[in-house]
Amino acid sequence: MSAEALARLATDRVDHRFKGLPPDAEGLTVGELAAQRRDLFTGGFTTPVLALSAERLTHNLELMETYAARHGLAFAPHGKTSMAPQLFQRQLEHGAWGITLAVPHQVRVAREFGIQRVFLANELVDAAALRHIAADLAADPGYRFICYVDSVRGVELMDAALRGTPRPVDVVVELAAGEGARTGVRTEEECAAVADAVAATPTLRLVGVAGYEGEVPRADSERVHAWLRRLVALAVDLDRAGRFKDAGEIVVSAGGSAWFDAVADVFAGIPGLSLPVLKLLRSGAYVSHDDGHYRRLTPFTRVPEEGALHPAFRLWTQIVSRPSPGQAFANAGKRDAAYDLDLPLAQVVRDAGSGEIRDAAGIEVTALSDQHAWLRTAPEAELEVGDWVGLGLSHPCTSFDKWQLIPLVEADGTVVDYIRTFF
Ligand SMILES: Cc1ncc(COP(=O)(O)O)c(C=O)c1O
Repeated sequence: MSAEALARLATDRVDHRFKGLPPDAEGLTVGELAAQRRDLFTGGFTTPVLALSAERLTHNLELMETYAARHGLAFAPHGKTSMAPQLFQRQLEHGAWGITLAVPHQVRVAREFGIQRVFLANELVDAAALRHIAADLAADPGYRFICYVDSVRGVELMDAALRGTPRPVDVVVELAAGEGARTGVRTEEECAAVADAVAATPTLRLVGVAGYEGEVPRADSERVHAWLRRLVALAVDLDRAGRFKDAGEIVVSAGGSAWFDAVADVFAGIPGLSLPVLKLLRSGAYVSHDDGHYRRLTPFTRVPEEGALHPAFRLWTQIVSRPSPGQAFANAGKRDAAYDLDLPLAQVVRDAGSGEIRDAAGIEVTALSDQHAWLRTAPEAELEVGDWVGLGLSHPCTSFDKWQLIPLVEADGTVVDYIRTFF
């Protein structure tokens, strides 16, 4: 990665653009504020403020590094989760092969920060974006870029946009996760037709197959395994038909954060092919994990002997109204918390007077307005206006995207760094 571009993040000024940061830090650089090692609770931060646990983040990075290595998987964590180059850097330091992305803007962000291997898990038919990527490939021989193709028309559009560019763009055929699933080619016959179309262009090079088991309809272990076996069989068939002859290596890619155990299982059985195989896992949500959706879905509940991810986010919000014994309102809402999969979970209360932290017993989030959380409080709930409430969140992707500069906080409350996001 580009040390220079990363270092520039620390020279940015702390100001009104960044929610939750101390008003009295206005004008300091991000690096200067980090060097002050302020306390999250007493250092002038304003609510709501999202905190990312330094220790839990490190734990998750280490766990997936060892998991991927143990199972012989290369790892291209999905960068759309955090869109945080500092976290991309940590992921690469923890053994990642490269970074997965979804749309061209995200590729620009990654390239600005010097990412050398990008896996775009999407078909790309935007001519302007393709020309930009082709120019980037031409200018940087060390840059590896791979994207999906999922139709003959897509291949034709890509070819038309790329005519005259010096380096072919590497593509993998996307196999749909089933009938009625999201993107991807529905049948093996159509995959062969798309592969033929690629072979007929001078601008594209077929290097493998990919898909996303997270979209398998009515997913369960059996259906996910069956689809992954289909993906592997497709790679074997295309290889036998000589369709990867110029590839150098064959890419077989799948895997979010809900089924990487099935991916590890099935990819362990990939037979010898005509070229070395890059088995590429693309989990993204693991990086912060969560207190809802992914806590329920994590494969580590099926393979507890392999470890456990730790939820790393806590959204700190303050009680601004307690109109009745059964009701309270906190000052964080849809602008601040993920709400597309589950409501936040009240976890702890930090007492406004003593600063002590206690369990949020009897406190439940029942709804979110734009800027408020609606809390239902049982008789045993101890809660006053002014108290801070720590919320657990569900869905990492829609938590990161609401915050542009996220304090990285150690267990004792010391803020040691600030994570910049680019959405
Ligand atoms: C194509 C693709 N690959 C990988 C992922 C990463 O999955 P997860 O967010 O469960 O880590 C996603 C997530 O939406 C995806 O759409």
